Amino acid sequence: MRRERKQEMETQIFSPDEIEKAALIIKRGGLVAMPTETVYGLAADALNPEAVAAIFKAKGRPMDNPLIVHISELEQIYGLVSEFPEKARILAEKFWPGPLTVILPKSEVIPDEVSAGLTTVAVRFPSNPIARRLISLSCPLAAPSANLSGSPSPTNARHVYDDMKNRIDAIIDGGECDVGVESTVITLAEDPPRLLRPGGITPEQLREAIGEVIIDDAVFNPLKADRAAPSPGMKYKHYSPRADVVLLRGDINRFTDYVNSHSDKDTAALCYDEDIKELRCEHISIGRAHDYNTQAHRLFTALRTADERGFKKVYAHCPGTSGVELAIYNRIIRAAGFEVIEL
Ligand code: TXA
Ligand code: MG
Repeated sequence: MRRERKQEMETQIFSPDEIEKAALIIKRGGLVAMPTETVYGLAADALNPEAVAAIFKAKGRPMDNPLIVHISELEQIYGLVSEFPEKARILAEKFWPGPLTVILPKSEVIPDEVSAGLTTVAVRFPSNPIARRLISLSCPLAAPSANLSGSPSPTNARHVYDDMKNRIDAIIDGGECDVGVESTVITLAEDPPRLLRPGGITPEQLREAIGEVIIDDAVFNPLKADRAAPSPGMKYKHYSPRADVVLLRGDINRFTDYVNSHSDKDTAALCYDEDIKELRCEHISIGRAHDYNTQAHRLFTALRTADERGFKKVYAHCPGTSGVELAIYNRIIRAAGFEVIEL
């Protein structure tokens, strides 16, 4: 008697000059991880409900968490949304292509699988040339970050492979992502607009372009039990390594004193370069204390490194909350499950 062997999908790795092959996979309804300037995305044809459903399955993502649709030229957005207000036009002109996602009322072509039943859709025009070429050779792409649901977003092809090996058709290896944290998400489906997720485009830049912007409370705090999530992704555990992350708020001396007196071999400090000479324990630096772009660029790799090196506890130096630091703060405080010690 012959037994059916379960066919496991073998994930192919493509170089950037094999984008045509990746585009064919997308057009046939498959899943391809692509580099963007923020993090790697797990892409499928945004208008193919089965392909979109396969994204949720591969990531283990709850079906009520909607996806961003990626475009490669501004004109594509007009078919995806039912309104394109003046403030959206200004933001698109100023920040696209780039790490900004806008939420607008959706048009009827957007499958419910993409918008998770909401009446809005998130749209982003990435600047990464590989992502743009993949979109122009195929179609608008639904793409969440290409990590298993809950773990830190991938900023290189190896991170994607570690999470998604044999769960997706292919990965395009485009090297390290530039920004390193996911795009800024702002909803323009209401006025004044509201920032739902901080990223490489800062609240200061948004306000300079369009005036008042509200920062949603969920950027800083755990979602209150009685409040519906404005962005469903906010209610899920995020960016967490297996290690227990604790944020310490205080200057260099207090930070290094605390860590030195509370660490053992299973503990690491997630710190700045300037902390290192004072530390007497294992450490992973994310860059110089005021070099916020480098910190954003290295943060998710640092969280993955903590697990690879087997640390059980990570004491992280708490960032500030203005400019790009707000994006770093938002990710790290979620990784810490909002556990902060004031020094
Ligand atoms: O930089 C990025 O944005 C990356 C790259 C791949 O483009 N993508 C990304 O996607 O981070 P994802 O799915 O990991 O995060 C999208 C976030 C989620 O928190 C989701 O809940 C929210 O955007 N979102 C998507 N559509 C929304 C909508 N219509 N209303 C409110 N929030 C929405
Ligand atoms: Mg994500």
